[in-house]
Amino acid sequence: MIIGIETTAHTFGVGVVHNGKIFANVKDMYKPLSGGIIPNKSAEHHKLVADNVWNDALSKAGCSDSDITAIAVSNAPGLAPCLHAGLNFAKLKAKLLGVPLVPVNHCIAHLEIGQSVGASDPVLLYASGANTQIIAYTAASKSHRMPSSLKNREKLAGASSKYRVFGETLDLGVGNFIDTFGRHVGIPFPAGPALEGKAKNGKYIELPYSIKGMDVSFSGMQTKMKQLFDKGVSVEDLAFSMQETAFAMLVEASERALAHTGKTELVLGGGVACNSRLQEMCRLMCESRGVKMFCPAKEFLVDNGAMIAYTGELLFNSGIKKKPEDVEINARERTDMVDVSWK
Ligand code: ATP
Ligand code: FE2
Repeated sequence: MIIGIETTAHTFGVGVVHNGKIFANVKDMYKPLSGGIIPNKSAEHHKLVADNVWNDALSKAGCSDSDITAIAVSNAPGLAPCLHAGLNFAKLKAKLLGVPLVPVNHCIAHLEIGQSVGASDPVLLYASGANTQIIAYTAASKSHRMPSSLKNREKLAGASSKYRVFGETLDLGVGNFIDTFGRHVGIPFPAGPALEGKAKNGKYIELPYSIKGMDVSFSGMQTKMKQLFDKGVSVEDLAFSMQETAFAMLVEASERALAHTGKTELVLGGGVACNSRLQEMCRLMCESRGVKMFCPAKEFLVDNGAMIAYTGELLFNSGIKKKPEDVEINARERTDMVDVSWK
């Protein structure tokens, strides 16, 4: 069995996977009493809950120490103190059990788990807290013209097989954008689910729709929403209009990526993909284009250990395994920096 440990931000999670099947997915989330995530506090939380979450996951999976082949750990990208907490725990366990470590990029795990539900070569809409990207796999032999509003994206469009970023946010991740607005109106982190509830009783008001080529931007909409709230516009109307506007931007960029790549599948990933209105808008777009849509269950959309174990197994089976002392954190590793050698 492969164990996956997730600790890049607010969630400490442990998942257990064997042959692509998920046997356990246990997590404990750090929730700040007020304000946003404080990285050191979140790391403290992870250290406190680590043993319990680990034991719980292994017992749920009926997995004993001797069943463990390798430990996958999300060593990138994320908040440095949280990454350190997870990696130190993973190293300790790997040394104790005498098994190798498999370093896994957190964003790529959000993508790979999406493909566990049946897609084979999709465009991926990755909409989470810190990240908002439209991604597609491109094999080394195919050369793709890249939309190139970001310099590093051009540089990274090299020869090897990669998850290429076709469009992304130019400022805030869509989840952070939603959470920051939530904080402004007194809804604690994570605000997405509560604002989705409020949106059900809201009506449409126009907000800045900002899409530049394939990229999106949320800061203008955020400023406008805060101003309107301070002038007395209801949270319900703002929540509804935010969903209609922000999600339409994501669906537009995803549709353009589908048109450009000619791919016929869309996979949703990341915590914001839990939102039923985003799912509905994606479904409508896919139906009108004759594209298949896939969306994993909610527990696999938000941060979780199962996606790390699932991706870790793919990497491990392709020969990627490391001595614990050879693995380090990489807080800023982008999705398109990783050589996808396991596909
Ligand atoms: P990243 O993957 O970029 O590091 P993250 O790990 O913080 O980000 P996830 O756990 O994937 O993010 O997702 C958390 C985000 O999802 C939060 O911003 C939360 O508000 C948002 N979210 C969760 N449920 C919903 C919902 N129903 N509607 C909108 N947003 C939601
Ligand atoms: Fe995440």
